[in-house]
Amino acid sequence: MIQTITSALGEPIFHLTAGDASYVISIFHGFPLHLYAGPAISDDDVDYLLVRVGHDSVVPRPAHTPEGWFSCDIAPFEYPAYGSGDFRPSAVMVKAKTLDQTNPTGGAPTTAVMYESHEILAGKPVLDPCPAVHASDDECDTLILHCTDPATALKYDLYYTVLRDCPALCRRTVIKNTSDTEPATLLRAYSASLDFTTIDPQAELVHLWGTWGRERHMERTPLLHGSMSVNSRRGASGHYHNPFAALVTSETTEEYGMAIGMSLIYSGNFDITADVDAFGLTRFMAGISPDGFEWHLAPGAQFVTPEAVIVISGEGLGKMSRVYHKLYRRNLCRGEWADKERPILVNNWEATYFNFDDEKLVAIAEDAAKCGIEMLVMDDGWFGIRNDDKSSLGDWFVNEDKIRCGLGKLVEKVNALGLKFGIWFEPEMISPVSKLYEAHPEWALQTGGRPMSISRSQYVLDMTREDVRDYLFDTISGVLSSANIEYVKWDFNRNLTEAGSALLPAERGGEIFHRYVLGLYDLLERLTSAFPHILLEGCSSGGGRFDPAMLYYSPQFWTSDDTDAMERLDIQLGTSFVYPASSMSCHVSASPNHQTGRVTSFTTRGNVAMAGAFGYELDLTKLSDEEKDLIRKQTADYHRYYNIINRGDLYRLILPTDSYNGKTGKCASWMYVSEDRSEALFTFVVIRTSVHPVYFVKLRGLDPNAVYVDQTTGREYHGDTLMNAGMNLTKNYRDGDSVVIHLIKK
Ligand code: DGJ
Repeated sequence: MIQTITSALGEPIFHLTAGDASYVISIFHGFPLHLYAGPAISDDDVDYLLVRVGHDSVVPRPAHTPEGWFSCDIAPFEYPAYGSGDFRPSAVMVKAKTLDQTNPTGGAPTTAVMYESHEILAGKPVLDPCPAVHASDDECDTLILHCTDPATALKYDLYYTVLRDCPALCRRTVIKNTSDTEPATLLRAYSASLDFTTIDPQAELVHLWGTWGRERHMERTPLLHGSMSVNSRRGASGHYHNPFAALVTSETTEEYGMAIGMSLIYSGNFDITADVDAFGLTRFMAGISPDGFEWHLAPGAQFVTPEAVIVISGEGLGKMSRVYHKLYRRNLCRGEWADKERPILVNNWEATYFNFDDEKLVAIAEDAAKCGIEMLVMDDGWFGIRNDDKSSLGDWFVNEDKIRCGLGKLVEKVNALGLKFGIWFEPEMISPVSKLYEAHPEWALQTGGRPMSISRSQYVLDMTREDVRDYLFDTISGVLSSANIEYVKWDFNRNLTEAGSALLPAERGGEIFHRYVLGLYDLLERLTSAFPHILLEGCSSGGGRFDPAMLYYSPQFWTSDDTDAMERLDIQLGTSFVYPASSMSCHVSASPNHQTGRVTSFTTRGNVAMAGAFGYELDLTKLSDEEKDLIRKQTADYHRYYNIINRGDLYRLILPTDSYNGKTGKCASWMYVSEDRSEALFTFVVIRTSVHPVYFVKLRGLDPNAVYVDQTTGREYHGDTLMNAGMNLTKNYRDGDSVVIHLIKK
C-alpha cells in the first residue's frame, strides 16, 4: 500500500507499507528525503524526524532552502547526488553539459536529483535488461518518483515496489538523457540508498565474506565513523563478498531487534557501503561498483540500474532471512523448476575427476538406481580432448574416445535405469589450447598489447559480442537437442582481467564489465527460453557467483567446492542469511574428504547435505553395502522432508562460528518448521566434543499450545516446553556426530 499526504510545505510525503513494515519518503523543497524504514508506524507526517541541528559553518547550504538548519551534508537523502554539499558517498554522479550553453563549467560531474512528479501503480513494471523480482498486480504496488536535474537534460526515475504481504521493497533507478544532441557520462549509478537518522544504539553490519572453498561465512562488525564496503571488482559477484549486507543494531539477535537487509540482484562488480558520519547518521547503499565503471549515455538513451531488494525486519535476522527465502523462491526464481521438488543427483566430479568413460558412468548410474538416486550428472571432461584442465573449453563437441557409445546412447542407457541425465558446461570460457581459440583468438577478453593473465589455463570469452553469444547458443543447443538432457550445470571458473573488447569504441571502454554481465544474462535468457524443461544449476568454482540474479535463471547453485560436512556448516548457514534451502546444492562426498582430509560419518554427511538441493558426489561403485543402505535411507528421508525443508521456515539455533571473533564453536543447530507449524525438523551437529559435554537447545517457531511427537522415540512434548525449556541433548558425542529429530503435531 502506498499513501500520500501533503506536508506543511505543500509537498508530498509517501508512506509505503510493505507487509508489517513502513518506509516513509518526504519531499522537502524538492529533495527526496528518507524519513523512516522499520516496523510499521501509524503516522504519515513524520517530518519531525528530520534532524534540525545547527552545523559547522564549513558546511554549505543549498541556495533555495530558507531553513537555516538544512544542510545537504546531514540530510537523509533517498538518492544522494554528488557535488552540491553532501560530502558523504554519493549514489549518483553524472558528467553532463549544463543546459545553459553559455556556462563554461558545463560537463562537471555535479549532479542533482530533484522531485518533479510521481506515479503510483498497482503491480511492478518490467524494466529490462537485468533480472528482477516478478510480482503480479495483486501482490505489489509501485511508486515512481520522477526527478530531474534542473541544470542538465538528465532525468531520474526512482522506482519503489512494495510487496503487500511481506516487508520487502524493490528499488531501481532509471537515468535518462533527454538531450537531443549532448551525450552524458555516468560515473556512479547505484540502485538504492537510504540514510538512517535513528539507528540507535550502535549500528553493526552483517555480511557474507569468503574465498574459494569457504564461501559466505557470516561476519558481524560494529560500524565506526567512516565507510565500510563489501564489494567485487572481479567481473563476477565472486567468492570474496556476496552482494548482500544487513544493517542491525548491537542489540539485534536472530529473534529480536531491527535488521535491514540489502540484497543486490546482480552478478557483476558491485558495492554495498555503510557510511557513518560525524552525527551518527548511517548511509546504506548498494549498486554497481563505481570502480572502473563509466557509462556513455547517448542523447535520448537511458540506463536502468540492477534491482536492490530491501527487507525490513523488526524481529531480528531470522525473520529477515525467512522473508528473503520466500520472496526469492516464489518471486525471483522462475520456470517450471522454481518451486518443484528437485531430483536427487549423483555427480561424477569427485568420483572420477577427468578420468572417466561411458562405462564408468553407467556403472555409477547402476548403483545410483538401486539406492533411490534420480539423476546422473556428467561433469567436466566429456568434450574436445579434455583429460585435464589445460584444454578444450569452447569446443563443445562430445569426445567419443571417452564417450565411446556416443552421447545419445549413453543418455538412453542412463534413462533405461530410471535416471535422468545432466551435463556440465563452462560456456563463458575459452582455452588457448582449443579449436575455438585457433579460429577466434579475438573472442577472448583482452586489451590490445597487454599480456593476457591466465587462470586455470583459460581465458574469458567476450560475452559483450553477439557473435560469441550466437556461437555458444548454437553449440550448446546442439548438444542439448542431441539427447534427452534434463539438467545443465553452468560453471564459471575464473574472474575477468584485461577486460576489453575489440568491438567497443573508446568512449565505451568503461562499460565492459556491465556489458559482460548483460551478455551473460542475454545468453541465459535465450537458452532457458529454448529449453524450459531443463533444470539449470549455477556454479562458479563452487559458490563464486551465488547471487540472486543467477537464481533468476538457475534456481539452484553449487554452494561450494568444499564438500566437508563440518566446513559446510559455516558455508550453508551463512548462505541461509539470504538464500533459500532450495537454492543451495549440497552433496554427500567421500570420507576422508577430498578438500580437508577430515573423516566424518556417512550419517552426518547426509544430515548436513539434507539442508539443500540434495545429492551425492562420490564413486558409488566403491561403497560398502552398509553405506548403500544408508543412501537408501537418506534418499527416502529427502522425499519425506522435502516440503518442510524447502518450503518451511528456517530457524538458525546455534551458529557454528562466533560471528564477532571468528572462533569455531562446539556445535551447530538449526530447524525448519512447516508453514502451518504442524511439523518441524531439528538438526544438531557436534563440531568439537569435550569430556561430559552438556547440551541444551531451545527450539523456535513451534505452536506453543500444540503437542509434538518425536517420530523416532514416540516421546511427546508441548511446543512451549521445547521453546522455553529446550531439548536436552546431553550425551557423550564424538566429533562430527549429529542428531535429527522429526516432530509432528499430535
Ligand atoms: C568447479 C566446480 O565447482 C566443480 O564442481 C567442478 O564442476 C569443476 N569446476 C570442474 O572443472
